[in-house]
Amino acid sequence: MAFIADPNALPRVSAELFGLTMGKGIIREGNVDAALAVGEWPRDLDLLIVDVTGAADPVADAAALKTALPGGCLVVGVGSINDVALYRELLAVGFNDYLALPFAEGAVTRAIERAIDARERIGGAPASAHPAQRDAKPRTLSVIGARGGVGATTTAISIASMLGTRLGEEILLIDFDLHYGSMMLALDLEAIDALREALDQPDRIDALFIQQVAQKKSEYLYAMGAEEPPTSSFQARPHAAHDFLRSVHRRFRWVVVDVPRGDPALQRQLIEASTDILIVTDLSLPGVRDAMRLQQVIHDVAPQASLFVATGGAIDARRSAVKVADVERTLKRKVDVKLPTDPTSTLTAVNFGKPLPEATPNSPIVKALRPLVAGLESLSASGPAAPTKARAVSLFSRFKLPAKKK
Ligand SMILES: Nc1ncnc2c1ncn2[C@@H]1O[C@H](COP(=O)(O)OP(=O)(O)OP(=O)(O)O)[C@@H](O)[C@H]1O
Ligand SMILES: [Mg+2]
Repeated sequence: MAFIADPNALPRVSAELFGLTMGKGIIREGNVDAALAVGEWPRDLDLLIVDVTGAADPVADAAALKTALPGGCLVVGVGSINDVALYRELLAVGFNDYLALPFAEGAVTRAIERAIDARERIGGAPASAHPAQRDAKPRTLSVIGARGGVGATTTAISIASMLGTRLGEEILLIDFDLHYGSMMLALDLEAIDALREALDQPDRIDALFIQQVAQKKSEYLYAMGAEEPPTSSFQARPHAAHDFLRSVHRRFRWVVVDVPRGDPALQRQLIEASTDILIVTDLSLPGVRDAMRLQQVIHDVAPQASLFVATGGAIDARRSAVKVADVERTLKRKVDVKLPTDPTSTLTAVNFGKPLPEATPNSPIVKALRPLVAGLESLSASGPAAPTKARAVSLFSRFKLPAKKK
């Protein structure tokens, strides 16, 4: 909610509030006096922007207002006085920030993001567009195929669908393989060009953008993906993935990412920005080697993330030279999910253009994923699972781990 008296600031604050709250914010004309006249504040109000211009004693008014507001509500003052003493006094009475007019485009959004970050650092609840999610931290699960065609996309879609249904919460799937991603095809949704622009300029991502680009697949499932021409080159700028995810997390607490294998820079950025990571490998020598190399990258750049390993079912395990026990020995950890081969379910899902758990809820793939999905929600992102005890390796000893970064 915002109370703004300054006619020049009104449209700007209004636009930014709209972006921040997915259009749910309320803006009123008036200054802190109008805010003080409010008899009862909504108990779940978590943001108030208030204009202190014209107040006889802005600090006293701010203190009175702060007392009347719900405890967790972030308060950002704006006003015509550009004075550091006033700024400090407003902070001392509990305002989270103060912006002197006129301010630049994006200043309000940045101030609020800073306030949210500060609150999270001291252990408070993050702001969320969804009241039921108010107390929960944003989560990004990245699903990475160790090799091509191991079933990573099928798994990412299935997990997102099951998680949404389980939590009763909207989940966003993003296919970051801008050129060759297959997620939108699998879900029979349209690829969107704007994804690439958004990665170039994440500051531009607002409520309207997400509304246009995230396509609804089912009650709790949204998806976005691109289909850049094979001739176009794209290089993600540093921190693009982090900034992008941060913006979409304003709307979706849970994001499930289909990570591209062909772009190591973007892959690394996505790993860095993830709270949870799932490596899907097949039961082949190259698959296990690459799963091990990915595991090493994850240990190096995202040691805080929870790591899971799945063996894919695209190739029947009975026809594979490598066994699950070999994977566990090589990775020195348990395999969390053994996805069974189930061509009938995967075919049905593709034919209907639906997530596998919706098309074939009784598939053994769904059954195999259930414990992982249940665990995802209860897990505090406390780091990778404990490694299983290392034993002598035979064939796999030819894989050399790169020297660990100091
Ligand atoms: N458990 C499974 N049982 C049988 N077939 C499967 C299984 N998982 C995936 N498939 C099939 O294997 C093929 C590849 O699956 P998918 O696209 O999910 O893999 P991917 O690892 O994302 O591939 P890419 O490297 O192209 O991104 C698809 O035809 C899919 O239907
Ligand atoms: Mg894929």
